[in-house]
Parts: sequence; C-alpha cells; structure tokens
Amino acid sequence: VRQILVIGIGAGNPDHLTFQGAKAISRADVVFLIDKATADDLVAVRQVLLDRHARIDHRLVTIPDPARDRDPEDYQAAVAAWHRARAERIGAAIRDELDESSTGVFLVWGDPSLYDSTLRVLEAIDGLDIVDVEVEVIPGVTSVSALAAAHRTALHGVGEPVVLTTGRRLADAGTLDAPNTVVLLDGQEAYRSIDPDGIEVLWGAYLGMDGEVTIRGPLAEVADRISQERADAREANGWIMDAYLLRSTDPPTM
Ligand SMILES: C[S@@+](CC[C@H](N)C(=O)[O-])C[C@H]1O[C@@H](n2cnc3c(N)ncnc32)[C@H](O)[C@@H]1O
Repeated sequence: VRQILVIGIGAGNPDHLTFQGAKAISRADVVFLIDKATADDLVAVRQVLLDRHARIDHRLVTIPDPARDRDPEDYQAAVAAWHRARAERIGAAIRDELDESSTGVFLVWGDPSLYDSTLRVLEAIDGLDIVDVEVEVIPGVTSVSALAAAHRTALHGVGEPVVLTTGRRLADAGTLDAPNTVVLLDGQEAYRSIDPDGIEVLWGAYLGMDGEVTIRGPLAEVADRISQERADAREANGWIMDAYLLRSTDPPTM
C-alpha cells in the first residue's frame, strides 16, 4: 500500500496553510503535481510552501494530463475515457515513483472537497488494479472562506441555507437556487444572466493574494464595475480567479 496525503493549501496566500498541512508537507518523500497551474503566481505559492515546509530531499514528479478530445461525438463517453486515462497515469506514477515505505503528497488549491478532481481520481485508481493507495486528507482554507473573510460577513442569515455552484450552472438556471448562492468557476459573467432586482453581490478576486480586489453592492448597480474589473485584471495579469456571493435582499416569503 502506498501512503498518499492530499493537502489543502488554501486559496492563494501561503499563510492559509494550516499547521496540520505544514506537518504533512514535511512528511513528503515525493510531491506529485497534476494540476494545470500555469499562471506564475499560482506556481509561486506552491513553491513558497515547499521551500518553507518540505524536507530538502523531497522529489517533484509532474504528471502531464492526457490529451482530451474537445469536440467529441459522445461527450459523456469522452469525459469517462479521459478520467480513466488520467487515473491510469496517476496510478502508474504512484506505483513507479513511490515505494511502500515512503509518502506521496498532492497539493490541492483551497480544499480538496470543493471543485477539485484529486480525490475522485484517487478513488478511481482503487478500481484499476494498478496500485493500492491509502489516502489521508488534510483540509485547507477554501476560496469561499476567503471570500466571506474579505467581506467580513457570514454567508447566510440566521438559519438560512447556502448553495455553492458554478458560473455555468447559474447561467443555465437563470435564477438563484437559494437566498445565498456562492458562485465559483465563472468564466462567463453568469451574474448577468439573472434578474438583478433584490440581489446584493459580494465579489472578490485574487482573494488572500497580492492584488485582492473586492466589490459589494446591489447587483443592478455594480455588475458593470465587476465586469470592468475582471477585464482589466485579466488584461494586466493574464489570468483571474474570482468568486462571489449573491444574496437575496427580499424578505423571505413565509
Ligand atoms: C477549480 S476551483 C477550486 C476551488 C478550491 N478547491 C477551493 O477550495 O476554493 C477554482 C475556483 O475557485 C475560486 N477561487 C480559488 N481561489 C480563489 C481566490 N484566491 N480568489 C478568488 N477566487 C478563487 C474561483 O472561482 C476559481 O474559478
């Protein structure tokens, strides 16, 4: 059995790492890199954490993503095939690069429970007969926590529910699923696809990082400013990571 630690590293500030995460990084013999963190700043955060906490003799193993058919006839089948190819590659890398007495580490942005495929892939490896893995998860600060902290707010009113969703799903739904909806992975200005009346937005980009920007206000009034900020930031940095809470300001109908 190979020992694997999946460590949530926080949402971009190296100081988000917990003491438990730091201890876990110091146990790494091999650090596996599978994400497509191409932006320099994202790679830099990871490097800071390894410089601070990893043992000097740890090894880095990069696992390239398999090629993906972007225009398949059968979308579901193509995604399944891609996931399988990924699991096979990562499983083979664990088998070949790690022995049973050493510890492998995966560093995951934010927390591994939120819009990240690492845990699903490791579970899939279990069914493939390549290698046996024992996984331990060390939780991290999510971008959702970083967003709430930046705005000094709770995500919901007393006893209310919160929904976490993606930009794509929000745009498809065209409406809020809950009085408090947190949106991640919005590449398309999904906040423009809902009726802004009675909705407050609490938006943040580069949360916890240098260049953190936040905007808060009635959606109808600040949507244009958010779009402008996004465009400017993307132009200046080449990439943007942002998240927002949409909060219904209408009194609940009971
Ligand atoms: C693939 S998801 C990963 C989420 C991550 N596992 C977490 O726990 O936050 C990436 C999305 O998280 C959000 N995100 C992550 N870090 C962020 C940050 N520092 N500032 C704003 N949004 C962030 C963005 O919505 C981005 O599109």
